Amino acid sequence: MGFCGFVLFFSIIQCRCGCGDHIALVIRSLPVSSGVVSPCAALQVERPQDLSDGKSENFKRMFFPRHRLTIAIYWSPFLINAHLIDNDGPNHTGLWNLFLDEVDPTWYAQLRRYDLVVIADGNWFTRPSLFFENRRLVGCHFCHRPNVTDLTLRYSHRAAFRTALAAINRLAASGQFTGTVFVRSFSPAHFEGGEWNSGGNCRRRRPYRANETHLQPLDQEFYDHQLEEFRAATAAGGGAKMRLLDTTAAMLLRPDGHPSRYGHSAHDAVAMYNDCVHWCLPGPVDTWNQLLFAMLAQESS
Ligand SMILES: *[C@@H]1O[C@H](CO)[C@@H](O)[C@H](O)[C@H]1NC(C)=O
Ligand SMILES: *[C@@H]1O[C@H](CO)[C@@H](O)[C@H](O)[C@H]1NC(C)=O
Ligand SMILES: *[C@@H]1O[C@H](CO)[C@@H](O)[C@H](O)[C@H]1NC(C)=O
Repeated sequence: MGFCGFVLFFSIIQCRCGCGDHIALVIRSLPVSSGVVSPCAALQVERPQDLSDGKSENFKRMFFPRHRLTIAIYWSPFLINAHLIDNDGPNHTGLWNLFLDEVDPTWYAQLRRYDLVVIADGNWFTRPSLFFENRRLVGCHFCHRPNVTDLTLRYSHRAAFRTALAAINRLAASGQFTGTVFVRSFSPAHFEGGEWNSGGNCRRRRPYRANETHLQPLDQEFYDHQLEEFRAATAAGGGAKMRLLDTTAAMLLRPDGHPSRYGHSAHDAVAMYNDCVHWCLPGPVDTWNQLLFAMLAQESS
């Protein structure tokens, strides 16, 4: 989810009021910690009670008493069990241990609480990482170790979605999870003139027309692999209700919707890298809610 995806959900609350729902967002980026959120606060229809277990901004559980609605955020950038083992690592972007066949327990252990789950992930797999299967090192992405095969991020990304969706299916098959899972497809970044750490930026002020752009080859792979894993997870039947929230093509057209270097409060004198990954609000992420709401309306009709 982008910066304000969480707050955007208030529009859904209004439309689904009084139904006592529990909603979980399993996401790769946090909405609440950013200054961008403050203008969004005006959208609130009700002040929630904070029922979070700890103080971490990474995990929030908010309860809206008037609507008997719970919304929770689980930060899970890889969906699977992952640990940062070196802050520095190759290229100074950290090094992660990824346990490809183990679902991330932080969200999975609580899944049964929720009626509606949105999964939105993908962009973190570019980080240097070591891959484990059965707790054995099987390869890596960009780890620069002579004795470890670089299986690339395609391997970890696909495995993570497969593991997570299969785990959800197992929980549903055993009757412990009865909710609906929305898998939001890959959300492309829009760096131009370099990457995030090499001077890239997103300065465009208007959306692309459909004939003016196309997915970068790697983004296309992310998208294709997520769809393939989604289809594989739903094909067998007998598992969870899963729906695809296919926002990729829409987001591709919005190079103008990122914070760039303005992703902080006007009062904070901070130097930030150009953020062409997350999204401003109001902005293109409104579309996600519109799509989600249309799909929810379809479900209940
Ligand atoms: C790491 O840095 C090298 C050299 O600057 C660059 O070619 C490579 O793309 C970077 N890799 C990652 C995963 O950031
Ligand atoms: C690979 O090499 C590194 C350093 O040379 C060593 O620390 C590590 O134990 C080796 N790993 C395996 C799986 O052999
Ligand atoms: C894209 O389509 C628009 C409207 O159909 C047209 O005016 C424009 O020339 C096209 N641009 C390109 C790059 O083909």
